[in-house]
Amino acid sequence: MLNYSRLLRASFRIRNSIRSSTVTNSINFHTNHAILGIETSADDTGCAIINDKGELLAESLHSQNLMHLRNGGIIPDVAQDLHKAYIEPIVSETLIKAKLSMEEISAIAVTLQPGLPLSLVVGMKYAKHLSRRHNKPIIPIHHMEAHALVARMHHNITFPFLVLLISGGHCLLAVVQDVNHFQLLGQSIDSAPGEMFDKLSRRMKLRNVPEYSTVSGGQAIEMAASKATNPHTFKLPLQLAEYKDCNFSFNGLKTAVLLQLHKKEKEHQIVADQLIPEVNDLCAAMLMATSRHLVHRTQRAMEFCHQNNLIPEGKKQLVVSGGVACNNFIFNALTMLCNEFNYSIYRPLPKLCTDNGVMIAWNGFEKWRKGLDIVTDIQKLDIQATSPLGESLIHQVVQSKIPTKLIKIKLSI
Ligand code: KG4
Ligand code: ZN
Repeated sequence: MLNYSRLLRASFRIRNSIRSSTVTNSINFHTNHAILGIETSADDTGCAIINDKGELLAESLHSQNLMHLRNGGIIPDVAQDLHKAYIEPIVSETLIKAKLSMEEISAIAVTLQPGLPLSLVVGMKYAKHLSRRHNKPIIPIHHMEAHALVARMHHNITFPFLVLLISGGHCLLAVVQDVNHFQLLGQSIDSAPGEMFDKLSRRMKLRNVPEYSTVSGGQAIEMAASKATNPHTFKLPLQLAEYKDCNFSFNGLKTAVLLQLHKKEKEHQIVADQLIPEVNDLCAAMLMATSRHLVHRTQRAMEFCHQNNLIPEGKKQLVVSGGVACNNFIFNALTMLCNEFNYSIYRPLPKLCTDNGVMIAWNGFEKWRKGLDIVTDIQKLDIQATSPLGESLIHQVVQSKIPTKLIKIKLSI
């Protein structure tokens, strides 16, 4: 708690220093339209500004990662307090970096769904405050849509495309027909891959290794797996192998890893802070099992898209996004699938795969230029903790009963 209050005090200092420097800041008169994006759906306070050419003018991010690593997960009211402390300094800092005043902003894009209610509400209230004070419209943003669309910022990806969103809170497959037209093909029936990585990394005590102590669970597992000497020591089952749909499940895999871990802990009489000697191999096995599951479901999604002409034959594109998309093992496995099925594969830059303000500003920019969801009557806008992505085609996928023989994946550890 000591560090937490120190953090809060530090943020007030940043806030004051930013306030005093705003007065002397120069103004850029060359920008016609600029969208300011705000993200506070979980544990990152993000802001970014994108101009009318889709160029990023500035971005700022405050991550609460270290605090939540120490607490063993996000504690919603701690996350809310930190968002409250950082929202104003982060937005002010972004405006300063972009050399813009709020008067030069055309609209405020803000994540309103899905996410932690206590976190979402901070972004919404601040966006409404800016909207009222400066008379600007609000563009409401769906967090998962923003993850999907941000890949278009740096790559020439045209509609429609297939997207696999893998993060700490979600796992889903969808066809993106347009900025506001998503068709959901499958989603997790229990937990998300990032959530599984975070929990298992903690249980395997990876945090006790200094080089993993400040990174996310998923990153720690990737780093440990890269040191595996015998990655085939552990055999983990393919999840939902018998289900001919595009849904995902990670609870069974988590339990299978825990069973192997308990067995090894007993065998080596592991006590207190010690890690099992085979921890790197176990991490590698876990990444392989996760990759095989993700590839299997994506392969069926590609077959479903082919059968239903959802993706044009001449332009087959897969976008992988969300925090877990940073993982190179997983991305390489998906690349093998794409090579087999003639898809081009894309992912945003790593810092744009994890939560950030840029993806919200980008989604705002995509909606702005198409005249979509530009809300002036902001009173009615509200947050939504859960919110399905687009129209569901899950039933049609299930009915299609597509038999999918998983392609051979050679994972280089
Ligand atoms: O998209 P994101 O920042 O937040 C959510 O919307 O959930 O994703 C965070 C998740 C965390 O669970 C983290 O462990 C995971 O992404 N992650 C990774 C890697 N980097 C972050 N998982 C696997 N490998 C990585 N390199
Ligand atoms: Zn996210």
